[in-house]
Amino acid sequence: MILPPSLRWTGTHLELLDQRQLPGSVVFMQLKTWDEVATAISSMAVRGAPAIGIAAAWGVVLAAQAGDDLSCAIRGLRASRPTAVNLGWALKKMESVLASTGSVNCESLAVVAAELQRQDCLLTQRLVDHGVSLLSQGCRVLHHCHTGAIATAGVGTALGVISAAHAHGVLRHAWLDETRPRLQGAALSAWELGCLGVPCTVIVDGASGLLMRRGEVDAVMVGCDRVAANGDVANKIGTYNLALVAKAHGVPFYVCAPGSSIDLATPDGDAITIEERDAQEITHVQGLSVAAPGAQAWNPAFDITPAHLVTGLITEFGVLRPPYRESLRGLSLPNQP
Ligand code: MRU
Repeated sequence: MILPPSLRWTGTHLELLDQRQLPGSVVFMQLKTWDEVATAISSMAVRGAPAIGIAAAWGVVLAAQAGDDLSCAIRGLRASRPTAVNLGWALKKMESVLASTGSVNCESLAVVAAELQRQDCLLTQRLVDHGVSLLSQGCRVLHHCHTGAIATAGVGTALGVISAAHAHGVLRHAWLDETRPRLQGAALSAWELGCLGVPCTVIVDGASGLLMRRGEVDAVMVGCDRVAANGDVANKIGTYNLALVAKAHGVPFYVCAPGSSIDLATPDGDAITIEERDAQEITHVQGLSVAAPGAQAWNPAFDITPAHLVTGLITEFGVLRPPYRESLRGLSLPNQP
């Protein structure tokens, strides 16, 4: 089955794949205002760092078309999710068009949004090619969250590497963390790999230790929402635990990081804002309470994996190795301070 695109611009409005409806239904939302885009991002109808950046860029185009106050729209879009640097980066690009043209020109804004989308397609493919070159014949790869095609405008990042490894006949099996609390692994990664015919098994997040102890994992491959200047990585909650388990078992831990997710203006992981989401994502499943009545819950959406646990950063420029402060500094990055 061919995967649907994460989003497409119709010429007048944004069609956005509603990821919350997957794997049950493939539904496209028709977004006509910037605040509909902001709500789609905060409610995770669109999710995945590259996809939210591109959706936000189209949100600015919608605001310009409607003659809305653009600083207000950009502020609203920027606030929709704080951790992924791609969002702020895409909005900065749109702001720089506004500054350079000195007036609101919908067409110039649409050209830049389309270019961000095109670049993401191109660069994720390059990243994936570098990632596949790291994997050996018959490898079994463990993945966390969802980083596939629909989390980007292209082929995805870490899950894209896994699908490409399958297409090249290199992959033996993919292990998919279900990824509590929103289950992106069970719902989205398993769906996407299923569509592509990639052999995979969903596990609970806590099963990775047993699996590695049994020697069933050759590499861990995850995505990221922001990489700081020292190589610390913000990614879906549970990534840090996975990196510690991988270290304890001598399993290489790779992070796929497109240049749009690398933020040299942030010195280290402690400086990254971690989004905290509604406690009900933990206490409720499909609207039904599964926690003791009145139980409190804490729901950080991301965590920080320190650079020393990362075996390699897979980028469109190639595979970076520690020390990351040095290997990152040399890159020509879109997010450079
Ligand atoms: O909260 P989510 O589902 O948007 O979190 C997504 C992740 O953590 C991904 O690993 C990351 O955005 C990279 S997607 C290519």
